Formats: sequence, C-alpha cells, structure tokens
Amino acid sequence: MCGIIGCAGRDGETLDVLVHGLSKLEYRGYDSAGVALAGSDLDVCKTAGEIDDLRAALEERSPSGSVGIGHTRWSTHGPPTDENAHPHLDCNREVAVVHNGIIENYQALRDELSTAGHEFRSDTDTEVVPHLIEDALADGADPEEAVREAIARLEGSYAVSVVMSGVDRIFAARNDSPLVLGIDDEAYYLASDVPAFRDHTDRVIYLADGEFAVVDADGYRVTTLDGEPVEKTVDTVDWDPEETGKSGYDHFMLKEIHEQPRALRQCLRGRVDELAGQVDLADLGDLSPRGIHLVACGTSYHAAVYAAQLFQQAGIPAQAFLASEYATSPPPIGDALVIGVTQSGETADTLSALREARKRGARTLAVTNTVGSTAARECDHAMYIRAGPEIGVAATKTFSSQIAALNLLALAITSVGDAREVISGLRDLPGAVQEILDTSTARKIAEAYRDAESYFFIGRGLHYPVALEGALKMKEITYKHAEGFAAGELKHGPLALVTQDTPVFAIVTGDDEQATKTVGNVKEVEARDAPVVAVTDGASDVERYADHVLEVPDTHRRVAAVVANVQLQLVAYHTADMLGRSIDKPRNLAKSVTVE
Ligand code: AGP
Repeated sequence: MCGIIGCAGRDGETLDVLVHGLSKLEYRGYDSAGVALAGSDLDVCKTAGEIDDLRAALEERSPSGSVGIGHTRWSTHGPPTDENAHPHLDCNREVAVVHNGIIENYQALRDELSTAGHEFRSDTDTEVVPHLIEDALADGADPEEAVREAIARLEGSYAVSVVMSGVDRIFAARNDSPLVLGIDDEAYYLASDVPAFRDHTDRVIYLADGEFAVVDADGYRVTTLDGEPVEKTVDTVDWDPEETGKSGYDHFMLKEIHEQPRALRQCLRGRVDELAGQVDLADLGDLSPRGIHLVACGTSYHAAVYAAQLFQQAGIPAQAFLASEYATSPPPIGDALVIGVTQSGETADTLSALREARKRGARTLAVTNTVGSTAARECDHAMYIRAGPEIGVAATKTFSSQIAALNLLALAITSVGDAREVISGLRDLPGAVQEILDTSTARKIAEAYRDAESYFFIGRGLHYPVALEGALKMKEITYKHAEGFAAGELKHGPLALVTQDTPVFAIVTGDDEQATKTVGNVKEVEARDAPVVAVTDGASDVERYADHVLEVPDTHRRVAAVVANVQLQLVAYHTADMLGRSIDKPRNLAKSVTVE
C-alpha cells in the first residue's frame, strides 16, 4: 500500500531523510515513488519503479528545500507510470500533494475542475487535491486555509500531506488512513507509519480521523479540520530501529520466521500464571461474551478460523468471517462480541466490518500488533499480540503470535477443562518452534517439489486453518497455485485435481479420531499417486503413506498447529527463494491493505 514520509527541520538533509524514509516503507508494497521539496521554490522528482529508480532520477538533479514530502504509490487509479506517481501538482506547479487512500468523489471533482480550465496530467484520484488548493489560493485563501478548504471537499479515505512553493510548512490531514507525527529535539516528521522515521525518533503522535496538522522546523500544531485546537499526547514507540533491519538474514521473511520464539515469549510474558492454571488479561476488562464474531482478512482470517474453534470448544457460539463479506452483508449480531484480528490494525476491510458492528451496537475488541493503530483506537478493547514490527509482506510471526494471543483470550474468557495443559503447551511453544527452526528439512522438500505447478494442503479441526495458511503462504511468495482444504472435504470435489504432479501436504498430529480420519484422506490421495508430505509428530501411522515427513514435536494439539505452520512457512520460503521470487515484496501485494 502507499506510504508517506514528511520532514521539517533537517535543513540540508531533507532529501536524504525522505529517501531513507521511503526505503523504510518499501515493505508496504509499491510500484512508483517520488519526493517534493519546498523552500523558496518547489522541486519535484518522481518515477515509476523502485526507490533505486528514484535515486537514479535524483542523481541528475539535486532538489533542496527546508521541508519535504515523499510517497510510495501502490496503484489504484491508473497504471504505475511516472505521471501517476506522487507527488501531484496543480496547474502552476506550486502545490505538491501526496495521498494514501481513495477519494470517492474524485470524478465529480475532476469534471468540475476540468470544466473550470484545470489541466490534469495523471489518471489518479489524488490530483484533484492540488487543483482544489490552487483554486482556493486564487480566491484569496492563505495556504493553510486553502488546504483546509480543499480537504473539506473530499469524500472517502485519505492521509494527505501538502507542501507549497515559498511556504516552509507541511500541511496534513487524515480520514480513514493512518498518519503519525514524529518528534525529535530539532526536527519533525510525518508518516503513514512509524518505521519511516523510527531511525530518527521514538516519540510519536497518532493523528485521528478528522484532524489536521501543520508542521514546520519549529514545531507542530494539531486541530480539527475546522480549526479547533486538539490536545495530543506524545507516545513512545517501544521497539528498536534495529528490529526493522534484516540482521544478516537474506530476507525479512526469513528473519521474522526465526524471530517467532522471541515474539511468542513476548506475547505470553506476564499474562500466564502457570501454577494457578490461569491467564491474566485484567487490562481488557470484563468481556463475558455470549457469542463471538471474529472478522479478519488473509492470514489473520486463518487465525480467526482457528480461534473460533477454541471458543466453540468452550461452549461459546463463535464464527469467523471474512471482513470484506461481513461489512457487505452483516449477519445478525445480537449481543456478540466482535473481534477484529488484524496485525496492522489498518486493514480497510477489517475496519469497515468493525465499524459496521459498532453501528449495530456491538462491543468490539481489536487483536492487533500495532499500538495506536486505527483498530486499537476505535474498538472498545484492544489486546496486543506483541510480535514486534513485521516488515515482510507475508505474515509469519504475527500469525503465530495471533494464535498465542487468541489462546490466552479463550482461556481468559471461557472455562476449559484442560486449562493447565493448554497453558503448559503454550509455555512450551517458543521452544517447540525453536526446535523446528534448528532441525527443519523444509529446504529438501522445497528442492523436491519446486517445479510443481500446484500444491494442496489438508488438515482437520485446528489444522484446517493451518492448511489454509500453508497454501496462502505458498501462493503469495512463489506465485504458484496452492489450495488449502478441510481434509474431509477433499473427496467432495477437489480430489479431481489430485494427480502424481500435485504434492499434497497433510497436517496430522496425535492419534485421536481426527488424526485417523485425516490419515484416511491421505490414503485417498496416495491412491491417486500424489506425492504426500506429512507434517506430523509421528503419533499416527500417516508416515506409512507419505513420501516425505516434516517432523513436529509432540505437543498439545493447539500448539502443534502453530509448530506445523512454521514448517510450512519454511517450505514456502525456500521454494520461493529457489525460484528467485521477490520474497519480501511479492508482486501486486501490499503489507497493509488500506483500501476496500
Ligand atoms: C498474508 O501473508 C498477508 N500479508 C495478508 O493476507 C494479511 O494477513 C491481510 O492483508 C490482513 O492484514 P492485517 O492482519 O494487517 O489486517
């Protein structure tokens, strides 16, 4: 998704700060980039392609200015071209605007502005903004008023930053798209998310919807769009800039896979009383739900499917919904607690679902990795998964930490008979994941099947969402077809696709009735000559029907799901690596999807 960086107060270094900030935003996914620096003049450089292409374009010129804004664009309106890259300019090239989000009434505004004689150079929705500002300036408004007037005409979602020729300030506003201020002793920053300026400061102010900021070398001012002053608190970010580097790993994804033991310990720390067999989430208040709806997208949805089973097992009616569908066609909510599972806390579909639930009177809880995110601020309650920053587009450690956090939540708000066993399993989880990281043979499996055109993943019960997640990881970073199925569903259609060329990954742990049934499904696959990779603790006889085994330690079933998933993360990673894919920034994908 698009990224924004802005900087005031770093005279002589503005350009470097902007380009460095953009490189820190690359993980969000983008296809073009640009900067605008303002001082006595306005200087803009933008290009389709990567930050290195922007650097090359900048070599031929040396824009300077006391304030500046930069942007990475992920195309929504118009293809990735130089013209469609941000910043966008007015007719006189005196106003530069970067924008994240979607301006829903842009066509009407564009028609109106075109009729009035404005000339558009791009296909974007964003370009209406500098032209609206140009009009307001022509009508006599001062720069700040002109930006406010323009913003007031916008419908939809936006985080907007503006600089102008001859004005040493940045103007910014947000609605439904994140924007955060960074403050250090001598300079001020503005960004769509903290990593863009985390190397310079850990002091941040999260802007809320409807707020407007003016930033210059001497400070910042936050008001409502109408100009009413707003008191803001300064928060401190508690993660280290080093955490956003690769620390010697070839890819962020691999680093983040290896960070899972630490992330899991952080998630559990201070929340579990093993002796008493209890979980302490007192800071969440009294939730006592009669029913639970979980809303989420992608990997987070898989964590939600897993969690719904935990709540159901404890006797609470619970269901996981794809957030985009929930917002489109909401089911009866009654007095259910609606839980948004979202690592970023900024996913537009999930926010829409949560807002729909709130509109219908439901209590909401965000289970998120991002303190200060929109989901955390808008929900009645927030539970943090504490995974630390995740840069790779493919979610890995946040999935494991979501599962751990949702286990804690289930233990805290339901009474399950085997709470002590679950808690002890959770305590063993970081060590079990470490064991996989130390011993996995996933690379060999990747070598064996890297040329397959299609992969299938099957699992039952808590292993079903792991099958879904294994397939999602495989498809998003290898660009190969992959599908996850409930093991019992295979024979109701998908079995027709199974051939000797389609590796099937079967997740089977324990030797209970569920395992026996899944082994039966594995036999069906084996009978069609498909290569079988069993992800197993060896308790059942699945190995007899498998061509390869990926071992998982003998752990509680709830924990086994996470550990098995780590094996599948590694298979996807190594396959993508061997195929030379862009692992951290897969094509067409973005880390945080802030549009519906
Ligand atoms: C998975 O690897 C993706 N990054 C994607 O499916 C992601 O989980 C989804 O977009 C939801 O993101 P969120 O957790 O930030 O809401």
